[in-house]
Amino acid sequence: MKNHELLENVAYYDNIVQTIGDTPLVHLKSLTRDLACTVLAKVEFFNPGGSVKDRIGWTIIEDAERRGVLKPGGTIVEATSGNTGVGLAIAAAIKGYRCIFVMPDKMSQEKILLLRAYGARVVVTPTAVEPEDPRSYYSVANKLVEETPNAILANQYHNQVNPQTHYETTGPEIWRQTAGKITHFVAGMGTGGTITGVGRFLKEQNPHVKIVGVDPVGSILYELHRSGKTVKAESYKVEGIGEDFLPGTTDLRVIDEIVQVNDRESLLMTRRLVREEGIFAGGSCGSAVVGAIKYAREHKLGANDLMVVILPDSGSRYLSKVFNDDWMRENGFLESAWVDFRAVDIQAGKGEGALITAQPTDLMTDVVARLKQYGVSQLPVVDGNGRLLGVVTEIDLLNHMLNADHVHHADETIEAVIDINVPVVRPNTPLETLMPMLSHHHAVIIAAEDYVQGILTKIDILDFLASQM
Ligand SMILES: Cc1ncc(COP(=O)(O)O)c(C=O)c1O
Repeated sequence: MKNHELLENVAYYDNIVQTIGDTPLVHLKSLTRDLACTVLAKVEFFNPGGSVKDRIGWTIIEDAERRGVLKPGGTIVEATSGNTGVGLAIAAAIKGYRCIFVMPDKMSQEKILLLRAYGARVVVTPTAVEPEDPRSYYSVANKLVEETPNAILANQYHNQVNPQTHYETTGPEIWRQTAGKITHFVAGMGTGGTITGVGRFLKEQNPHVKIVGVDPVGSILYELHRSGKTVKAESYKVEGIGEDFLPGTTDLRVIDEIVQVNDRESLLMTRRLVREEGIFAGGSCGSAVVGAIKYAREHKLGANDLMVVILPDSGSRYLSKVFNDDWMRENGFLESAWVDFRAVDIQAGKGEGALITAQPTDLMTDVVARLKQYGVSQLPVVDGNGRLLGVVTEIDLLNHMLNADHVHHADETIEAVIDINVPVVRPNTPLETLMPMLSHHHAVIIAAEDYVQGILTKIDILDFLASQM
């Protein structure tokens, strides 16, 4: 006989489902360094099944039991990109139900194996068919429910328990964790349950909170929200977000704006998340971060803006895809083998003593002489301890000196022309990340914890690559 008194004062959970939720907010310091606003990531892979969908698995099943449609020994069927399947499978394991999941063949092998590990039957269907096509994962799931005795469809795309769960859990968590200071919530949209539930709750607390959706190029949601028009859906690689129809669980009225992102920027950002923030997350998380940064830049969010972006799942489901260089190259998201080079390699290639800096108290004339002496067009500006303050460029110096509204004198320092909006990367930042930056900026600063370790321009990279030939 179990001695239940034994567990008195013992900190434990009665089952794994009780550990769902209360996922942490993590500051995206490096990736959003050159934004004035603060961006916090809500990291949902801390849930036991590794995704935000754990939240709705249990609640959908409990609701079906309460409504008497799910009976003991029953079977749960669902059309899923994988994560909802895991959430349902966890609840089914505890409650003794069988599971059948229908997944489009674009989903990763890892997800199929994971669902089978939970004891589920997995049926794989073609991705590139219309939603109403009898071969689509929606239609096959419906058919399986008809053919399977005592089976229910979890129906995440139309089941209002989905957004309601986020209204009751994810939304209140974010409000509490941000002490009500949140100004913007950013989320990718699959069923739209997350953004609709969280959006409804946050707007009830503060109607000024902006709800921002992120949609992959190829999905219909962006244009539907923007103009009301239903465009033809196209295929794309990122999993879990985007749609070819409007789910019943998506309330577009809650969403203030939708930002469009493409596969390439999403997947490259997913790799940056783990390499620059140590956050090992999935492709739709990269999409959400790209969307958040685009929105913050476009709307010039300020220092009083607090943005929360939700990261739905873990990278462990995508090792064969976004984290596999061959797959990335085959799909045209990575150029060449040189991508493995990092900023620190290229800086080292410039040789010892290559790092020349300036200080705010330096005279403008001295800095001009230093630029000329070393044949460079900009210098990192550091304080007395070598911490980064910004960059001084020849063009800013020139414009300043040509500015007739200003009286110039020999002991003028460079303080007035320091540009703080310079992109900064960590030493281990890969070449694939540097290139897009250098298409927008003259130079990129390499720094660890604000201490400058180098500065790279296009010619430095060209020179380095040439030396590798
Ligand atoms: C990886 C991933 N990201 C984002 C989402 C979107 O979440 P929601 O369905 O709540 O819009 C999903 C949904 O399945 C997902 O699996």
